[in-house]
Amino acid sequence: MTVRPRLSLVRMAHACLGPFLRPGDWAVDATVGNGGDTVFLARAVGPTGRVFGFDIQAAALERAERRLVEEGFGERVTLRQVGHQHFAEVMPLEARGRLRCAMFNLGYLPGGDRTRTTRAETTVAALRQTWEWLGEGGVVSIIAYPGHPGGAEEAAAVAGWVESVRTAARTAYRTQVVGRPEAPVWWLVMK
Ligand SMILES: C[S@@+](CC[C@H](N)C(=O)[O-])C[C@H]1O[C@@H](n2cnc3c(N)ncnc32)[C@H](O)[C@@H]1O
Repeated sequence: MTVRPRLSLVRMAHACLGPFLRPGDWAVDATVGNGGDTVFLARAVGPTGRVFGFDIQAAALERAERRLVEEGFGERVTLRQVGHQHFAEVMPLEARGRLRCAMFNLGYLPGGDRTRTTRAETTVAALRQTWEWLGEGGVVSIIAYPGHPGGAEEAAAVAGWVESVRTAARTAYRTQVVGRPEAPVWWLVMK
């Protein structure tokens, strides 16, 4: 039997951002979780690039760290157990204006504590800061999950933030399965 990979917004984001990222780029994973996006970013920016990762859960970061070391990407990634709303307080100053990509995969850790979810207010605070630090032509990718408690409110807050930068942005895309308002939403916003 042939196993076909499931088409998901995470896969679509990787497929889109992979060719966009260049060796030597600097990128942010604002929600490291199990490290899937961090590993993707670390691979895409190559040995001369840098990735900064944020998460509030130690267990998630430990798992992600193990994966990164196994892949040989440990050196190019800095993980912080800090909420992404504190982005500007902890990022190195030389990253300002140099970031090519920031990924937000919102919600809770798959297989983890469902109460430790991202939240509308802190997500928007982090989006504002990363947008300011993004270089010209850089992109922010956000996947939100309206289907879990607090998720619809968070997705609405992200939509509001996208609207607030839309005219200053080069382009902004929004992708969602047609006819299912509770389905995950992916935004890609280019500065
Ligand atoms: C959907 S998971 C991320 C999945 C991850 N990108 C991956 O590839 O496995 C969302 C993550 O956001 C984290 N999180 C929740 N609040 C946060 C905050 N304020 N700052 C950073 N991370 C947060 C959760 O701990 C959880 O691990």
